[in-house]
Amino acid sequence: MELRVITLRVNGRRHQIAAPPNATLLQVLRNRGYTDVKNGCEKGDCGACAVLLGDRAINSCLVLAWQAEGAEIVTDAGLGTLDNPHPLQSAFADAGAVQCGYCTPGMVISAKALLDKNPTPSRQEIREAISGNLCRCTGYSQIIEAIQTCEAKTLPAERLEDVE
Ligand code: FES
Ligand code: FES
Repeated sequence: MELRVITLRVNGRRHQIAAPPNATLLQVLRNRGYTDVKNGCEKGDCGACAVLLGDRAINSCLVLAWQAEGAEIVTDAGLGTLDNPHPLQSAFADAGAVQCGYCTPGMVISAKALLDKNPTPSRQEIREAISGNLCRCTGYSQIIEAIQTCEAKTLPAERLEDVE
């Protein structure tokens, strides 16, 4: 299949990528090293592959990579690192909301999208926001607690840089 060159902006970095036109954003991101974006079901059921596309949390397995051209994509790793975690990531760790961790990047992304719009959500609003994210380990209580104890923060501008 003929490859199509697309430009994606991920966690403040610009990438030019040649990919088949039917490649999903999930496939392209993981091939590019963004393995914090997890591959769970590849059909929109689990939320493990969630990323921010602009201000919306989307399942990257349901979006073709070329459809994300021109948008700002942020993954869990773009929010914070082990040394400099995002408050949401710290809150998940502090609340014991991480067990195997497979769902965590997608959960954090869904929570970020929620808190950016609504910094003081109710438990019900949190439940709705993460209703597309499946967790097989925690029972969700600690996840909801983590999100409730956290305030939204935006991606620090100093992380934004252009690379090819
Ligand atoms: S891998 Fe995308 S929703 Fe499950
Ligand atoms: S912590 Fe294991 S799936 Fe959520």
